[in-house]
Amino acid sequence: KNEINIGLLGFGVVGSGVAKILQNHQDDLRHKLGVPVVIKKVLVKDLHKKRETILSSEIFTNDLNEVLGDPSIDLIVEVIGGTSEAKKAIESSLRAGKGVVTANKDVMAVSGLELLKLADENKCDLFYEASVGGGIPLIRTLEDGLASDRISALTGIVNGTTNFILTKMKHDKMTYEDALAEATALGFAEADPSADVDGIDAARKMVILASLSFSTEVLLEDVFVRGMKEIKEGDLELAEQFGYTVKLAGSAKKDEEGIEVAVEPVLFPNSHPLASVNNEFNAVYIYGDAVGETMFYGPGAGSLPTATSVTGDIVAACRNLLLGVNGKRLHAPQYARKVKSDSK
Ligand code: HSE
Repeated sequence: KNEINIGLLGFGVVGSGVAKILQNHQDDLRHKLGVPVVIKKVLVKDLHKKRETILSSEIFTNDLNEVLGDPSIDLIVEVIGGTSEAKKAIESSLRAGKGVVTANKDVMAVSGLELLKLADENKCDLFYEASVGGGIPLIRTLEDGLASDRISALTGIVNGTTNFILTKMKHDKMTYEDALAEATALGFAEADPSADVDGIDAARKMVILASLSFSTEVLLEDVFVRGMKEIKEGDLELAEQFGYTVKLAGSAKKDEEGIEVAVEPVLFPNSHPLASVNNEFNAVYIYGDAVGETMFYGPGAGSLPTATSVTGDIVAACRNLLLGVNGKRLHAPQYARKVKSDSK
């Protein structure tokens, strides 16, 4: 191969960030991979929408078949977001024998295992680092870095939008509505921000992290979810008077009785490192038998941080394509599901 061609599905906050990184870092990528990485086609809904990009308008299409049917395209990058359309696009790509990099936590939380199996069957890669904690390599950490350890718990802030809102309400005395509007304008919030504020986005991410950590299939229904809507400005002030900070936090624990996963507002003493994770930043503690306590911290949301995780996956997938080992990932054996019945 003398170049790797990408079919980019979606050109929103994340997709345009991916295009920027592939353009701005093209020399670094060529140096690392030995071949250039080129965006060959971009799938969008509206071809006539005005877009600021250096990509030629000729490579934009609204027909998925045009992307999947292009034999020169080696790898599909799915950043459409949402559920059914994106899932179908991932399935069609894998069935067409093309590896996929996705940022889609909605799809991976619900259909991750099924899609990873489909990827195996079609001897394709399916990478999804950007689905949790944009810019923080959490998936790879669990899959590789801490693979030998027995993870007993994780806890942290995995939704940037709610953390941004809570930070602005606490430190800048902003109203909930104004802070949410700013998080939306900055590209942190979901297309439907109720997924953020109701804790669903964080729950999806905890499902992905817990499934990997405990080598089992955790379902979205297993997660106890309480969003941030019940938190009022007065609550934040009251917490502050007692030296606490309110965060929407995710937690996952495993013991002999089973697994427990939750997303809910939590009071952290101001001396706790999670109390000073501000704005859209995310942080996750992972506790392992051997390693002890580790903490991972970074942007969590936003165009370029999330696109950094996507393009990291693109590099990994390109390496596999160049080595001819794509789709040869060894999945850890899945332990039987055992979720605590009282976790709801
Ligand atoms: N809406 C998500 C968040 C985007 O705020 O964390 C990143 O997954």
